[in-house]
Amino acid sequence: MDGNGRWAKRRLLPRLAGHKQGVTSLRRCTQACLDRGVKVLTVFAFSSENWNRPQEEVTGLMSLFVSALAKNLMELHKDGARLCFVGDRSALGDKLMESLLEAETLTAQNDKIVLNVCFNYGGRWDIAQAAQKVVAQGLPLTPENLDRNMALAHVPDPDLLIRTGGEMRISNFLLWQAAYSEMFFSASLWPEFDEAELDLAIGAYFGRERRFGQTSEQVVSPESPAAHS
Ligand code: IPE
Ligand code: MG
Repeated sequence: MDGNGRWAKRRLLPRLAGHKQGVTSLRRCTQACLDRGVKVLTVFAFSSENWNRPQEEVTGLMSLFVSALAKNLMELHKDGARLCFVGDRSALGDKLMESLLEAETLTAQNDKIVLNVCFNYGGRWDIAQAAQKVVAQGLPLTPENLDRNMALAHVPDPDLLIRTGGEMRISNFLLWQAAYSEMFFSASLWPEFDEAELDLAIGAYFGRERRFGQTSEQVVSPESPAAHS
């Protein structure tokens, strides 16, 4: 969800005003995904590297996170969203931890959409923590064993990965899980990302041919089991 700062700067507002607008945009996007039957939405809210931003912005983002959660939790729950917070929790304050756990417990049985909020998350952190768990289990470091221990093991790999704000990079997001994700780079700043833009991304996705390493001929007319009999 990139572009909050630039959105604010263009309006001569403080960066935090952009992040606030970003929360509104996330609420709108979650609703749009619910309306379209999207079963999993995973968002990058705060990266392991975002701690290096100016202290004022980090503090502002933390309290915005707590207040945005408090403000939207009941409605998300009512809408059937299951909230999952994904990332390194060891560095988070007690108050934040408490509200994350509370939200996860409250919404654990909901099944309309899984909303994964990646917070203090990094793709490299995820791979490293999964490797540590596999080693601790005394198992070999195979892709399957790693996969089972990744922070997003409770959902399938993403079909579509959208980055807003015009940059053409992943910036340590789902390094492991995005191996075969279709990418969509939007020039819209995150606060401006709306239903129309989401539909553009979904439309582009359906125009892609997903081959997963196979040839076009194989995926267009896959050999049916009948062909072997
Ligand atoms: C939001 O956008 C990303 C967060 C860390 C919440 P930015 O704050 O990176 O916005 P730009 O890139 O400065 O426009
Ligand atoms: Mg940015």
